[in-house]
Amino acid sequence: MFSRLARPSQIIFVARKHFSTSSKNDSKVAVLGAAGGIGQPLSLLLKQSPLISHLSLYDIAHTPGVAADLSHIETRPKVTGHMGDEQLADCVKDADLVLIPAGVPRKPGMTRDDLFNTNASIVANLIDSCAQNCPKAMIGIITNPVNSTVPIASEVLKLRGVYDKNRVFGVTTLDVVRSNTFIAEAKGLDVNKVFCPVIGGHSGITIVPVISQCSPSVSFPQDQRAAISVRIQNAGTEVVEAKAGAGSATLSMAYAAAEFANSLLEAMNGTEGKVQCAFVASDETDAKYFATPVLLGKNGVEKNLGIGHLLDYERKLVTAAMDELKSNIEKGEEFVAKQF
Ligand code: NAD
Ligand code: LMR
Repeated sequence: MFSRLARPSQIIFVARKHFSTSSKNDSKVAVLGAAGGIGQPLSLLLKQSPLISHLSLYDIAHTPGVAADLSHIETRPKVTGHMGDEQLADCVKDADLVLIPAGVPRKPGMTRDDLFNTNASIVANLIDSCAQNCPKAMIGIITNPVNSTVPIASEVLKLRGVYDKNRVFGVTTLDVVRSNTFIAEAKGLDVNKVFCPVIGGHSGITIVPVISQCSPSVSFPQDQRAAISVRIQNAGTEVVEAKAGAGSATLSMAYAAAEFANSLLEAMNGTEGKVQCAFVASDETDAKYFATPVLLGKNGVEKNLGIGHLLDYERKLVTAAMDELKSNIEKGEEFVAKQF
């Protein structure tokens, strides 16, 4: 498989192996919400990584069973299960990477922002424990609404005096995974060789696919470009409706989070050229956080590769995203200021 890295005017192909065997890394990775719809398959994928020495699983329920089950798999990571508040500190203690899919998913008719009231405090409390027990960890936030939970996490880390903007990521890899899939299907391409950056945020119109920067280069009449872009923006809702009340994307999200985590772990271990799109603290626009392709390194974001050149249509999508994105970010910041 190939990692497809997009830059404004340059596309780099880098050999991608989900689970590199050349690494000597001894990372501790914690998954918070590990017994859930995303948490379980994500933990299974991570259990296959030789980059991980310790896979530490936390949830409010069922983690002993998930950990016992995974621990019988004949792969490198040691697996430990931690359940309930009093075991959270042990779970995240000295973790190198913390992935957070804890919290409630959407049902049909809901927006991601409708999850805010439940998920904001879940993320804030989990991050508070990370601030105390693994202040240097990379943190990948999956819990929705990502546009708000990333600012929440950042504000809690700031309050505790351990914030490093290069170590906090909103995991938006699924938007790229979907774009690659839909474009490959539309053009009859080998999906392993397609990379389409997705920028902005992670909800509805804040998701901005940049098909003009797709590698390989693809062209669509404007009506088709718009139809694919809108499908990518609504792909989460497509899954929520198909699941008809049983939750949102879990398996594709687990795949995407494992892709993100393995890229980051490889970069932390010295592999050069690892790029992922992620929702990070950013100066690219007047929104304080914005997803773009970022070059990963030992200390997290090594370089923000930026928005690059956009078509008029794509620029309009960015413009249309800004109000909602900025208000989602402010809502997260205000939550921590007022209630935490
Ligand atoms: P789920 O309900 O299946 O699992 C969530 C898990 O979180 C459950 O096991 C639950 O016990 C646990 N949990 C609840 N409160 C907790 C707490 N305080 N501490 C630790 N764990 C806690 O939901 P899911 O389908 O796995 O989705 C989880 C989240 O991920 C949702 O908010 C969903 O919207 C989001 N999501 C994000 C993306 C993305 O692209 N970033 C994609 C899909 C889903
Ligand atoms: C997704 O994009 O699948 C997730 O954000 C879950 C959702 O609520 O759509």
